[in-house]
Amino acid sequence: MTKTKLVFDPFSAEFFNGPYDLYRRMREEAPVYYSEQYDFYALTRHEDVAMCYKDFETFSSARGIDLATVRNGEIPAHKSIIVLDPPDHREMRSLVNKVFTPRAIAAMRPMIAEQIDRFLGAVDPAAFDVVEEFSALFPMEVISRMLGVPEEARRQVRLWNDELLHREIGQVEMSEAGFEAVVNLARFYYGLAKQRRADPQDDMISRLVLAQFGSPDADRTTLSTMEIAMFASLLGGAGAETVAKLVGSAAVTFARFPEQWQKLLDDRSKIPAAVEELLRYESPNQYNVRYALKESTFHGVTIPAGKPVFLVCGSANRDPAAFTDADTFDIDRDRKQAQNLAFGYGVHSCLGAALARMESAIALERMLDFMPRYEVDWAGCTRVTMQNVAGWGNVPVRVLP
Ligand code: HEM
Repeated sequence: MTKTKLVFDPFSAEFFNGPYDLYRRMREEAPVYYSEQYDFYALTRHEDVAMCYKDFETFSSARGIDLATVRNGEIPAHKSIIVLDPPDHREMRSLVNKVFTPRAIAAMRPMIAEQIDRFLGAVDPAAFDVVEEFSALFPMEVISRMLGVPEEARRQVRLWNDELLHREIGQVEMSEAGFEAVVNLARFYYGLAKQRRADPQDDMISRLVLAQFGSPDADRTTLSTMEIAMFASLLGGAGAETVAKLVGSAAVTFARFPEQWQKLLDDRSKIPAAVEELLRYESPNQYNVRYALKESTFHGVTIPAGKPVFLVCGSANRDPAAFTDADTFDIDRDRKQAQNLAFGYGVHSCLGAALARMESAIALERMLDFMPRYEVDWAGCTRVTMQNVAGWGNVPVRVLP
């Protein structure tokens, strides 16, 4: 049987509808995939992806981490942490680490549980949408409260966030509405940071205003108002959409593997392991793009300098060379086999990982109480078409008596 041509198009319906068969072929047939259509390279094997995440001297984040910005090639004037290379990145990370401490995250547990209960408490168990009515809402509320966004602005902030990540099928560049949302968000957070500079409150923006660079080599002592605005804008996308997608995927994946849901119903101590397995099995962040600063060779194929390179962690996490029965969803699997790359790896590895794990674990715990038996209305499920982020936009369910 002749095989169809292998085409990896991260802006196609095929990709958004579930890329795992495609990834298998890429790992086997073209571990260094070249896209003629877009002129990028893509790495899909676990070993390669992990190595490149760590090698920031070859694979730079400074031109962005999505195809549109990387291929544009310009270094943006205002940069958030995720698009800085070391040493600038190191300085910024050590500063934001001061406000993202394990203690600060742990202190948010009651607020997170309260928000999760609030949103889940408002749905109709006879018919509700896990994403639209629950998982898309509470993570943004958590981040907004954590940053100190006033109540009346939170809905608007969430809509701007949705707009800037949204892509139509086939659309690589950000739309005009997306650009407007970026500007509106930055302007909003700039105003908020300015207010907090004048009148600090008990929130993260105020703590960022007050945080001091520790290194004596740093040529300034604190973050600028613009830097705080960029960081706060980043958290909406990096921290809300991802958790929203993970919890949406949980509803779908556990419905497909009901014996795994039963294991959780029988033993709640398995919830943290279930979160790790969901992250591996349906990574909300499927890839990050880098800019090749130097030439490099993998499996006999040379990636020239100056090209965008996709690090496809969503495929790496399904690589059978790294995980036994990689396509099987198993919350009891041996986690020590390989690094789970869902949170990235190396210098940019997710700053909010502890927060994300805590939010997802509490959400699962409450879902086990609220919907111990449920069925998914498969016909009503839809996928999102987004930049970097993959998952479900609608998951209608019915709680069974
Ligand atoms: C399931 C949820 C999440 C997933 C799957 C996820 C995934 C990732 C990944 C893959 C990266 C690395 C990007 C790269 O290497 O280019 C990253 C970085 C980052 N994430 Fe997350 N994330 C999640 C939740 C969060 C949350 C809740 C927050 C904060 C509220 C957050 C904040 C960040 C930040 C600030 C960075 C940039 C770190 C740096 O550049 O040093 N993330 N995340």
